[in-house]
Amino acid sequence: MYRQAKWDEPLIFELGKAGRRAHLPPRCDFPKEFHIPENMRRTTPPELPELHEGEVMRHYVHLSQQNYCVDSGTYPLGSCTMKYNPKINETVARMEKMMYLHPDQPVETVQGILEVLYELQIALGELAGLKHTTLQTPAGASGEYCGLTLIKAYHDDHGDSQRDEIIAPDSSHGTNPASTVQAGMKLIEIKSNEDGRVNMDALKAAVSERTAGLMLTNPNTLGIFEKDIIEMSSIVKEAGGLLYYDGANFNAIVGKIRPGDMGYDVLHFNLHKTFSTPHGGGGPGAASVSCNDLLEPYLPIPTIDYDKDKDFYYYNYDRPKSIGKVHGYYGNTAIALRAYAYIAALGFQGLKDTAEHAVLTANYAVRQLEKIEGFRLSHTSSIPRKHEGVLEAVPFKTNYGVDGMDIAKMIISRGFHAPTVYFPLIAHEAWMVEPTENENKDRIDQYVQAVSEEMEKAKADPDYGHDAPKWTSVGRIDSAWSVRNLVVSYKIYKEKKEKGEFVP
Ligand SMILES: Cc1ncc(COP(=O)(O)O)c(C=O)c1O
Repeated sequence: MYRQAKWDEPLIFELGKAGRRAHLPPRCDFPKEFHIPENMRRTTPPELPELHEGEVMRHYVHLSQQNYCVDSGTYPLGSCTMKYNPKINETVARMEKMMYLHPDQPVETVQGILEVLYELQIALGELAGLKHTTLQTPAGASGEYCGLTLIKAYHDDHGDSQRDEIIAPDSSHGTNPASTVQAGMKLIEIKSNEDGRVNMDALKAAVSERTAGLMLTNPNTLGIFEKDIIEMSSIVKEAGGLLYYDGANFNAIVGKIRPGDMGYDVLHFNLHKTFSTPHGGGGPGAASVSCNDLLEPYLPIPTIDYDKDKDFYYYNYDRPKSIGKVHGYYGNTAIALRAYAYIAALGFQGLKDTAEHAVLTANYAVRQLEKIEGFRLSHTSSIPRKHEGVLEAVPFKTNYGVDGMDIAKMIISRGFHAPTVYFPLIAHEAWMVEPTENENKDRIDQYVQAVSEEMEKAKADPDYGHDAPKWTSVGRIDSAWSVRNLVVSYKIYKEKKEKGEFVP
């Protein structure tokens, strides 16, 4: 499964010798006026490893082999919706006419991609039940920031700048409070009920003349659908607030319901979590933000608009109330293109079928895992789940001294990706599972069997799981140490290693 490697294999910076070359670019034959001005040129060479092509290739192939991905195995990581990325999407994104586009090209020469983006906005807006969409934001969290900033701009514009509080339940994703603060507002957290849903009394008590809006994730992070959504909407609207829908978990309900129809003003979709684009890994991801007429004037610039008479797509910067830019150019368009290909390939019925399939696999997996001695389903067990379910390993920890983290690591030794653990915070010893529509019954049965077998071994020997995962290139990481000693650059790594401080 994995290529065996030791953690202390040399880094690429430690390989190579001065003067080794992979490729020599041709001499620059541009006229002098295009050269970088003398005073702006670097005087010392960059600290880059010098390697031949074969070594570079081996380095990257090796890294890719250490990676665990949906293409290599079962990946039921809760909250992250690790969907298969159909390869046809990659083919579309790699078409020569798409791949070599540059955002600075004259608009007449990029009509094709603008049309695709415009149509994608319409499709996503249709699914959201909200007419206006931007594709600029590069991740869900960035979508949240953008949507909340629209809400803030609306209140400021209406002489209501004292409205600076966003209400969100304690089940919400960690990005919700962070985005609220980034958007210059304050979070008012409200408690959830025992059934995992928003407590209506807590919501009523939280609204005031300072309420800017409610931020709701639905289905929530326990995988439970917030059934009182209409009542919630009216409580917040009556208090003068607006409604933000965190649509990150839309994979369970796409084509089934539309947040706009439930009174919501603004929403984001994580394109990777529902429309099968790559996750981005901190890099080029994409989210869309859709809103209604109330918030449309504040959308980030540029918007992509269409002049029907001239049959011409263009970037519209002439938007005086806009919150400004939230990303360079028009976001990560190659990712948006993949989402377009996915939606076009499946069609409306296909998207709906996918949602049903995702819900079915999640419920099957959760119910099978719930039968294992040592697990219980968090919050009310009788409620069917949507895209995911959260188990709690509390009984196992109490009875056998082996915690949820140990069980998660043991599963890695069996060749599966671990679940999301210890989130959401309102669950105890949380074990969050989201197989998505990717996994068939056989795969889920294998997964459940592996979990059950590992837990049996840990029952017999409580130390069994403490050093898991085995057989992986990196074993059990000291998470507390690594958080306190972030080593994110070669320079820091080198300094620490030289001082003998790098003790993994
Ligand atoms: C409910 C919810 N909201 C927001 C986010 C943040 O999205 P991103 O990781 O793309 O920033 C996630 C991520 O999984 C999520 O599950």
